[in-house]
Amino acid sequence: MAGQPEGAPGGKVWYITTPIYYPSDKLHIGHAYTTVAADALARYHRLQGQEVLFVTGTDEHGQKIQRRAEAEGVPPQVFVDRIVAAIRDPLWQRLGISYDDFIRTTEERHVRVVQEAFRRLYDQGDIYKGHYEGWYCVPDETFWRESKLVDGKCPDCGRPVEWVREESYFFRLTRYRDAIYQHITAHPDFIQPPSRRNEMLSFIESGLEDLSISRPGVSWGIPVPFDPSHTVYVWFDALLNYITAAGWLDDPARFARTWPADLHLVGKEIVRFHTVIWPVMLMALGLPLPRQVFGHGWLLIDNTKMSKSRGNVVDPLALLDRYGVDAVRYFLLREVPFGSDGSYTEEALILRINVDLANDLGNLLNRTLVMLERFAGGVIPPYHPEADRLGLPGVVAETVARYQEAMERLALSDALAAVWGLVRVLNKAIEDESPWTLARAGEQGRLETVLYGLADGLRVVSVLLTPFLLEAPGAMREQLGIPEPAGSLAEARFGLLAPGTRTRRGKVLFPRIEETRAAAPAGGTPGKEAKQMADPAATSEIGIEDVHRLDLRVATVEAAEVVEGADRLLKLTVHDGERHRTIVSGIRAHYRPEDLVGRQVVLVANLKPARIRGILSEGMLLAGSAGDQLAVVTPLSPLPDGARVK
Ligand code: ME8
Ligand code: MG
Repeated sequence: MAGQPEGAPGGKVWYITTPIYYPSDKLHIGHAYTTVAADALARYHRLQGQEVLFVTGTDEHGQKIQRRAEAEGVPPQVFVDRIVAAIRDPLWQRLGISYDDFIRTTEERHVRVVQEAFRRLYDQGDIYKGHYEGWYCVPDETFWRESKLVDGKCPDCGRPVEWVREESYFFRLTRYRDAIYQHITAHPDFIQPPSRRNEMLSFIESGLEDLSISRPGVSWGIPVPFDPSHTVYVWFDALLNYITAAGWLDDPARFARTWPADLHLVGKEIVRFHTVIWPVMLMALGLPLPRQVFGHGWLLIDNTKMSKSRGNVVDPLALLDRYGVDAVRYFLLREVPFGSDGSYTEEALILRINVDLANDLGNLLNRTLVMLERFAGGVIPPYHPEADRLGLPGVVAETVARYQEAMERLALSDALAAVWGLVRVLNKAIEDESPWTLARAGEQGRLETVLYGLADGLRVVSVLLTPFLLEAPGAMREQLGIPEPAGSLAEARFGLLAPGTRTRRGKVLFPRIEETRAAAPAGGTPGKEAKQMADPAATSEIGIEDVHRLDLRVATVEAAEVVEGADRLLKLTVHDGERHRTIVSGIRAHYRPEDLVGRQVVLVANLKPARIRGILSEGMLLAGSAGDQLAVVTPLSPLPDGARVK
């Protein structure tokens, strides 16, 4: 499966999918998260010269939709047609989602695939008729055994479940239990990030049951081909969209080039469907499995998942009106390490706009162009390698390497951080080399070299931002005098901007958002007051003597290693100024050992030693966490080991 020649004409197409969305009139910014991330990856691979198939769409059948259409008094098809139209345009349109195919499960091409798959699996004995008795969560369209419920509610979404007792066709998941378990263990990249892989392995270990895959009482669905009194269970139907879009029955040549998918990008609550049920369906059909399923985290508001039923949704269209597409896309992909949960607040969005986009990037472009006009008549000057005090070719090469490495492991936020690293170097170059001083001193060679470096550095930034932002890269290039959009990632290399190019300074890239505008929340974001009241960290007050009981000290990590057989633990050797200590810490999901070596941490030095997995741990590290996110606390500037923290 892996190792297909990349980008070769006629070779394997890079195939990426998002989940197909339940039609809902209020898709929120959390939904947009999956699609925007997939879009950035699709654009990145296209920029690398690969042929890409990027598929998204809508999941239109099932009880949930049937009931909503009934409530509105319209036929389900009319109901979904209206909503799906609005999802494609304006929502995906305005977010710039560059899908190659938009698949609707109500389309004829898909109905045929579902019926054919059902028939084949029935004929080969992987589907049989029986009785289902248990619970059902309509909003999630999920069957639940009694034992899995939490407080009598759906363990995934916390909403009420309904009792179902009906005749049903079952899919023999149990027959493939060992095969799927082995596949997951043998292919470490199949489920990412690793924490989700471990969850799925324990899920399978806790026992699989055959899956009910038809509903006799739900009329809005694809009829079971040989028993039209049943419709196909909506998840069995929906998952097959990925091979419908690849051309499974219709177009064997297309199917051969596109399948298996390279990446299914999904939210973490539906990883189970994509890494257990879906691969087993494929195994049973004799088809290869997707290369990777990546389960990203949730966008949270006040520490709960943004969702329509909780009434805490933020409307993406309102944000787009207010802040523009680039700011919204940048925030989604930069703010939260991909894979973790992260909070949405309007304050954080505005901070990203004002600091990263307006101040660091917009200002840099503007200052560069002003200096080019002032000192070089608005024409890109030549570059003199011997006068380069900044080593820009090397800085650019390092940036691109970091960026690519991050993109390959889907660390979108890290890739953007690498780009901003270059932006920072360029800003610093203006301070360090001070073109005004060079001009006054008549240092022409150095002056030209700095100006060239700034302009060409910004050109490289425009290439690297092309997958992420829709407007800024083009605007940057226009102003630098290169009207064509970046055509290839190969252009991310120092020195390609032709001296003699005439610059065209234009509008400032990202104007700052003023505080007054910032005060009015967009689309139902809770204001400051609501947030203070709901502060989950508030606990009862303590006296200063309680604080003094803690002996907190700075220490340096000298060695770090994973604890075999414990997927959450790292074993650290730290020096506390007097001696070495061993500390076992549950931070492995968040740090690689090599990320920690050489770093200073804050140690609870008077904690009673404890034996963890047979290792004596002498103290603990301070770390902060929120949802899935965790960060180890470190002093802002270095301190001697053993320094007291209070
Ligand atoms: O699950 N943060 O559709 P869906 C991040 N139809 N991502 C979120 C989110 C949030 N707050 N809320 C939703 C379905 N999403 C099925 C899929 S695939 C064969 C069938 C993401 O409309 C969610 O994780 O409930 C999922 O990736 C996508 O939005 C669609 O969710
Ligand atoms: Mg959902």
